[in-house]
Amino acid sequence: MEITTSELGLAARVQRLTKTYGTGETGVHALDGVTVGIRRGEFTAIMGPSGSGKSTLMHIMAGLDAPSSGRAWIGDTDITDLSDLELTVLRRRRVGFVFQSFNLVPTLDAIGNILLPFDLDGRRPSALERARIDGLVDTLGLGPRLRHRPHQLSGGQQQRVAIARALATAPDLVFADEPTGNLDSRSGREVLALLAAASREHGQSIAMVTHDPIAAAAADRVLFLGDGRLVADKPRQSAEQISAHMLAAEVPA
Ligand SMILES: Nc1ncnc2c1ncn2[C@@H]1O[C@H](COP(=O)(O)OP(=O)(O)O)[C@@H](O)[C@H]1O
Ligand SMILES: [Mg+2]
Repeated sequence: MEITTSELGLAARVQRLTKTYGTGETGVHALDGVTVGIRRGEFTAIMGPSGSGKSTLMHIMAGLDAPSSGRAWIGDTDITDLSDLELTVLRRRRVGFVFQSFNLVPTLDAIGNILLPFDLDGRRPSALERARIDGLVDTLGLGPRLRHRPHQLSGGQQQRVAIARALATAPDLVFADEPTGNLDSRSGREVLALLAAASREHGQSIAMVTHDPIAAAAADRVLFLGDGRLVADKPRQSAEQISAHMLAAEVPA
């Protein structure tokens, strides 16, 4: 019998995932056999050295990139063989993504970028959604910046617009690639609180890449990648435990 993702309580999962960029001697094995699930309603942190495959893993889990081998599911849907159009519709309805490089549309102002997921879906936000967006704008301190375009915003402000955009439709599944990387510590704490509340109060499943042990300590679970492999899967950890684990992983055996 097939065990389905919903029976496992998983919002997303990948099985024996590999990803190689390029071919032959110059090929880079970004992922080398990763099997893992993101549990529903949990806040999961993904850590690991630079180049360990964190962004590649999140892109494949979110259906933004295809694996070289292995399979990926969002909820019960095997996304590995979906057409681009099917994937686009699934992503739009169910997945929010905060990119490491923000990916804001340069010709749209901040509120235009935040409302983009609705425009792409050909609809206007409902009153409830409008209230949620106002709340996000407020929490993220973006009110005075809504009519500014990305080039008129600082890196941290662009980051916050990207976070508001990813959360605006309240997707079941949110991927955030170093969402606090460009923020001062106070804004960083607010973003973490927002992500933690999204999982705890709204049952959203959140996967967040971070380098910061303090940020990872806000998560329910911490995954560690090394050289394209999953090297540890731990329940909630203190920042001290996470730092100790990172240090130990850097010391050659
Ligand atoms: N588009 C790409 N083309 C070639 N190599 C890539 C590409 N994207 C990532 N890589 C390589 O794959 C490996 C994993 O990258 P990445 O997933 O970005 O790691 P991380 O997010 O953990 O820093 C690195 O060696 C990186 O240089
Ligand atoms: Mg990365």
